[in-house]
Parts: sequence; C-alpha cells; structure tokens
Amino acid sequence: METKAFFRVCLALFILLEGALVARAQELIQLPQPNMTGGKPLMEVLKERQSSREFSTEKLPMQVMSDMLWAAFGVNRPDLGKRTAPSAMNRQEVDIYVATPEGLYLYDADACALQPILKEDIRAKCGKQEFVAEAPVNLVYVADYSKMGEASDDDKKIYTAADVGFIAENVYLFCTSEGLATVVRGMVDREELAKTMNLRPEQHIILAQTVGYPKK
Ligand SMILES: Cc1cc2nc3c(=O)[nH]c(=O)nc-3n(C[C@H](O)[C@H](O)[C@H](O)COP(=O)(O)O)c2cc1C
Repeated sequence: METKAFFRVCLALFILLEGALVARAQELIQLPQPNMTGGKPLMEVLKERQSSREFSTEKLPMQVMSDMLWAAFGVNRPDLGKRTAPSAMNRQEVDIYVATPEGLYLYDADACALQPILKEDIRAKCGKQEFVAEAPVNLVYVADYSKMGEASDDDKKIYTAADVGFIAENVYLFCTSEGLATVVRGMVDREELAKTMNLRPEQHIILAQTVGYPKK
C-alpha cells in the first residue's frame, strides 16, 4: 500500500511539474525595453561584418534578445508606428519568428514581446546545416502576402525579398557591434518548416538567420 501511495504522489508531482513547464513555454514573454544607445561606430561595424557558422550553445540574455529584435525590425518612431527597417509601401508584411530551445515565438514589435507559438524546439527544422540545431536562436523571416494588397505576384516576391534583406542586414550590424555570430540562410526546407510552424497558405518563409555567441 505504502509503495503504491508513494508512486501516486510521484505521478502527481510529475504531472504538476510537466504542467508548469508546458505553461511556461506557452506564456507571453515580455521583453525588456530595448537599449537604443551605444554600440560600436558604424564604420567599424561595416569593416567587421561577416557571416559566421560556428556557434556556442550559450543562450542570449533577454536584454540582448530585445535589442537584437528591435535592431532587426522594431518600432523606432512610435508616433508613426514605423520601424528600424524600411518596407515597400510601409506594409510591414514581414514577421520575425524566433526559434529557441524553449519553443517558437513571434516577435511582437508593438508590445516588445515574444508571443508563444509552439512549445517544441524546432531549431533543427530551421535549416539544412548542422549548426542550426545547436545555436540558441534561429530567426525565421515570414512574409504575409495577405498584407500586400493588390501587388502583383512578381512585386510580392521582389518586395518581400528586399524587405527581408534590410532586416537581416540590421541583425548582421547589431551582431557585429555586440560580438555575436550570425549568418543569414536560404538553405531551408521551406515546405517542411512551414508545416512545422503551422503557417497559413498566404505566409511565405523567405530566409532564416542564426544568431548566437561565437564558439570558443
Ligand atoms: C540570400 C542569402 C542566402 C544565404 N544563404 C546561406 C545559407 O543557406 N547558408 C550559409 O551558410 N550562408 C548563406 N548565406 C551567407 C553567404 O554565404 C555569405 O553572405 C557570403 O558567403 C559572403 O560572406 P560574408 O557574409 O561573410 O561577407 C546567404 C546569404 C544571402 C544574402
């Protein structure tokens, strides 16, 4: 009887603990306000910018995550709702999904928060290269064609590619300034990743970008 009771208590504790972990992965993460000052001088950053493919598994502190996402495509003119990167006709059709070991999140630039999307670690699906599964952060740039009005199919492709390019370069510049490693990537199985992310048909994966500390 005693052994049975012991196992029941263990089971109850396990269920409680699992529930708590799942709940944590599903909670909205309020990011700290981005630090909009400092950094290396622009010309030094441009001199050093490069792609790196060797990452440490060390996680990014939340302040660094917030600063990086703000640099990428944050709101820099709140009165106008405009962003750190330009977008064709100010459609702001690119969403940044953030894949971490804890799960998949959507960057909410207005709320300065990460909205929970999936509680699984989907990093391995974010690209075809090995480092993708180990680095602490993979950004997935997703264009929402439903925000592009009557643009032609050609314009949708050209504008979304250009708009993502600006965002990715902002991330490169931020990472260079902060001593982080990064590489933007087109080698992604878009169909498989879109399925994993439960994207709607009008959402298109354009590129992904890995971010982390350089491997020591
Ligand atoms: C649109 C685009 C797609 C890219 N795709 C990949 C990729 O899938 N994997 C990768 O390792 N690097 C990728 N890169 C990075 C390039 O290989 C890299 O920028 C190029 O070799 C020049 O090196 P640098 O960035 O250090 O100047 C991509 C770059 C761009 C602009």
